Amino acid sequence: MSIFLGIDVGTSGTKVLAVDESGKILASAMETYPCYHPKPAWSEQDPEDWWRATMSAIQSVVKKARLKPSDVAAIGLSGQMHGSVFLDKRDRVIRRALLWNDQRTAAECEEIERRAGGRRKLIKLVANPALTGFTAPKVLWLRNHEPRHFDKLRKVLLPKDEIRRRLTGEFASDVSDASGTLLLDVANRRWSSSLLAKLELDADLLPHCYESEDVTGHLTREAAETLGLSTDCVVVGGAGDCAAGAVGNGIVNRGVISTSIGTSGVIFAHSDKVEIDPQGRVHTFCHAVRGRWHMMGVTLSAGGSLQWFQNELCATDAHAVDGASDAYDKLNKEAEGVPAGSEGLFFLPYLSGERTPHADPNARGCFIGLSLAHGRGHMLRSIMEGVAYSLRDCLEIIRGMGVPVREIRASGGGSKSRLWRQIQADAFGQKVSTINAEEGPAFGVALLAAVGAGAYKDVREACAATIRVVDSTPPQRAAQKTYDRAFPEYRQLYRSLADDFQRIAALQE
Ligand code: XUL
Repeated sequence: MSIFLGIDVGTSGTKVLAVDESGKILASAMETYPCYHPKPAWSEQDPEDWWRATMSAIQSVVKKARLKPSDVAAIGLSGQMHGSVFLDKRDRVIRRALLWNDQRTAAECEEIERRAGGRRKLIKLVANPALTGFTAPKVLWLRNHEPRHFDKLRKVLLPKDEIRRRLTGEFASDVSDASGTLLLDVANRRWSSSLLAKLELDADLLPHCYESEDVTGHLTREAAETLGLSTDCVVVGGAGDCAAGAVGNGIVNRGVISTSIGTSGVIFAHSDKVEIDPQGRVHTFCHAVRGRWHMMGVTLSAGGSLQWFQNELCATDAHAVDGASDAYDKLNKEAEGVPAGSEGLFFLPYLSGERTPHADPNARGCFIGLSLAHGRGHMLRSIMEGVAYSLRDCLEIIRGMGVPVREIRASGGGSKSRLWRQIQADAFGQKVSTINAEEGPAFGVALLAAVGAGAYKDVREACAATIRVVDSTPPQRAAQKTYDRAFPEYRQLYRSLADDFQRIAALQE
């Protein structure tokens, strides 16, 4: 039986899975790395860290599952979207990569809209407006702010595609991840030569773009030898982590939606055709399913908000509570002791600005409504609630576009918390289910690898054979009522503070 590796180059670390043809996970490994924030709105990582982590996680999986070189038929790559790996003519990394949650490119977004002939025309070309996290504004930022580096630039790769280059020697991407560069003609699933010309960017800067299940190359001899794999092993296109996570959750048909809480939070809906929110609040990207698309809304700091709180305010005593096996169990226990609505405490999760629905790089995180009666448990619960409200913001836009929401599947590290799943069900007013496979993007690309190697006819068949719902959390009527009453207030808070956020940002300049 052939084995497939799924690799997810995430923001907190790289995860690798070995999966067999039935979808059984034989081994997994995770290696972490740091994220750098040299200024409040900046977010960077070193591609060398991704590479080291990926190699070490693959080696550990090969060892744990006792794989022989001939066992592994194909590898699927997934990763954080939008990041910019800048390479020179000798394929050396020019500077640290700017990440999906980096907010330095507001001026470049305006420049892109101007060069495209306005926001409407831009959306016509690439299905989306210019947003600070996307890749194209990062390339323009390099040209405008680090011309010395821009002069050396020969290729721009997305995070997982830099790993592909080092594994296979090929410059390639896939349509789902390429959609997030803002340089893909999403409707026609190819690079937009028209926008590239308007931005005066050379098309040679970009890699070849494939469908997610297509084979993009073989392992090089050096990579195969170092990893204990074979040069017969192919690497398929793979997918950006959102589309990969959706495949790993079986979101391959209309009406089944996923809510995912990792560092970011994502509401993801499959679409059989290109459907665009005229206001550009949710993204329309190619799906990792051939000839299909998806819409998604993104909360930039979802699990990231809780992680920040835990790191900054709870780290020292995190392991000190009876029966709490890890830090997050303890946080959950504290939050569980607080009633729905956190007794009037609100949290706006805009720690790195916000994407959906505000597209505001200057928005910031806030606790609002604090009193002497509130404790840390209230703050924890209000973080979980603020993230759920933000995801509801995304869900309501998608519902408003006429997309049926028959089933919502929860995934990502945050959704492992029973409490956070309940809060989501209560805030969405709809049952939230979980599936047998918990590994999201890495599992999704392992399935894409299986399709590429011929183990399944297509992605839908692979999902149908391996994924099933195992649990569901219905909404609780009283809590749902509380959240329905509080949600308009949550929304109003951003409107009330939007101008203040701009003034505070100006103070920092
Ligand atoms: C999606 C996005 C994030 C990253 C996180 O548009 O920016 O979900 O992909 O990994």
